[in-house]
Amino acid sequence: MTMMLFPMLGNERMTNAIAERIGSAVGKLELRRFPDGESYIRLHSTVAGRAVAVVCTLVHPDDQFLQLLFTARLLRENGARSVHLVAPYLAYLRQDRRFNDGEALTSRQFAQLLSAEFDGLVTVDPHLHRYGNLQEIYSIETEALAASPLLAEWIRDHVEAPLIIGPDSESEQWAGAIAGHIGAPHVVFAKTRRGDRDVLIAASNLSAWKGRTAILVDDVISSGHTLANAAREILEQGFPAPICLAVHGLFASDAEAMLRGLGCRLVTTDSIPHSSNAIALDSILGDALAGQFAAIDAKGLRRTPK
Ligand code: R5P
Repeated sequence: MTMMLFPMLGNERMTNAIAERIGSAVGKLELRRFPDGESYIRLHSTVAGRAVAVVCTLVHPDDQFLQLLFTARLLRENGARSVHLVAPYLAYLRQDRRFNDGEALTSRQFAQLLSAEFDGLVTVDPHLHRYGNLQEIYSIETEALAASPLLAEWIRDHVEAPLIIGPDSESEQWAGAIAGHIGAPHVVFAKTRRGDRDVLIAASNLSAWKGRTAILVDDVISSGHTLANAAREILEQGFPAPICLAVHGLFASDAEAMLRGLGCRLVTTDSIPHSSNAIALDSILGDALAGQFAAIDAKGLRRTPK
């Protein structure tokens, strides 16, 4: 089976790293915008009969989506045997139920749109809250990888006596897994969200853990208010500013400045390029993609363009 990977803009480094890991070629795609913002896309590689993957971390999905879909269709029209998406960060999982009448269930709509164009999806720690897994909404092969072993490894290599803290009950899955990997204690705070940038954190008493380095862990840093308020609680209890360790550093608006202003050290995976990136995901993404290519190849699947 011959493989070829294509980076969407900004995903070149990750694409090259994955390609090297799995021994794949990197294809050439010309992507630019016309002055009015429409996309120009041209394929300069031969994909007929190949298993191909597009690498696109979906950090600004509304801006990226059409180009991504056009590219998937173009690859299929040119005879790709199967077309996969590697999205280190997968967007649109927040709206996983209708919280108010008339709301769009965007998680499901987004999943349907991607499932119509791709044969497989590989991602890391998708924000699954009320869904048990991606298969509930995606109708293609999906692989949701866990970054917690890599996060745990980073802590083991860099922090002597860690105390793992999850800022809210949803983060228990990461805090618990990481603490389990390295045999460290962990606690989980409670969060009440009153708005996009308005969260209340109720901290547990940390006095039993004095002398340890507090590490806040979460899947996503978006507005930064969850971790900032948790960090304030930790500071109030006489601890030095914590390390903020997250899988996906979205850092919307002033999130980074706010967290750094509190003295926090920021550490993230490279799912979204940022100066805080310290943990590489290409090995787990590459291995999962290679497995998906092989499985689809074994099934002999080939969808034809509509
Ligand atoms: C919540 O469910 C998530 O795990 C994160 O805690 C949340 O998305 C972080 O958002 P923000 O940085 O905007 O507080």
